Amino acid sequence: MNEHFDNNRKLWNALTAVNARSAMYDLEGFKRGACTLDPIEVAELGDVRGKSILHLQCHFGQDTMSLARRGARVTGVDFSDEAIALAKSLASELEIPAEFICCNIYDLPQHLEKRFDMVFTSAGVLCWINDLAAWAQLIDRYLKLDGTFYIREFHPITGVFDITNPKELSAHWPYFHSAEPQVWEESGAYSDHDAKLDCKSCEWQHPLSDVVNALLSVDLKLEFLHEFPYCSYDCFPFLEKGGDGRWRFPGGKELIPLMYSIKATKD
Ligand SMILES: C[S@@+](CC[C@H](N)C(=O)[O-])C[C@H]1O[C@@H](n2cnc3c(N)ncnc32)[C@H](O)[C@@H]1O
Repeated sequence: MNEHFDNNRKLWNALTAVNARSAMYDLEGFKRGACTLDPIEVAELGDVRGKSILHLQCHFGQDTMSLARRGARVTGVDFSDEAIALAKSLASELEIPAEFICCNIYDLPQHLEKRFDMVFTSAGVLCWINDLAAWAQLIDRYLKLDGTFYIREFHPITGVFDITNPKELSAHWPYFHSAEPQVWEESGAYSDHDAKLDCKSCEWQHPLSDVVNALLSVDLKLEFLHEFPYCSYDCFPFLEKGGDGRWRFPGGKELIPLMYSIKATKD
């Protein structure tokens, strides 16, 4: 497992610099005060003022610090040392109160004791996680009673299709989980199609039922599960960007879900 995590850490260290200068992450806009949270998250999280929030897999912290700008007390965790170094330097430059911890999320109990009002995670996180049962136990470990867990994630059905097919969806990869990850050679970046990388990624597929059942298995109470027919990025080459910045199937067809969100509470 360590070898897989090492590959992924190297990839995310390489991606941090690429992402930080990409139009997709718009770091200058963020520095000027833009909120990087997805509009779905803003609507579904509600008022976070005064809440303590643990952000799992926070990358270089733009969403973590956007939560802080909305009044939350935030702690971000990520295993990419490049990403956490950048997050810390941004927090200091922008004078945003935020704590950042560099570790594998599974090792977090060695670094962090306290519990939180909310555990938040979003946008491309679960494919890097091999063990959803341990992930759910971690969430449970860090939530106070009545605390809330929230995730917005790319829908696992999007992982089934051959994205090199420029015209249509053709099912190619398994929807269901297997213990061995899919290993990819990564020569480019999702945020910048011209960037050159020489890394490997090790990714695990998790069907939606596994995500929900992992949360139920630690006795979290499901508040909602929402599915969305659009995506926050061009997850297929033939999607079209609308005026609202959302990527949809041609003609606005609502063919399959491209993202989902879950809110659950610790009773
Ligand atoms: C797609 S990013 C997170 C999404 C974030 N909203 C963003 O800014 O794009 C995925 C993050 O997960 C982190 N990550 C992957 N596996 C991890 C692990 N086992 N423990 C901690 N962080 C991990 C990566 O370093 C990366 O920063």
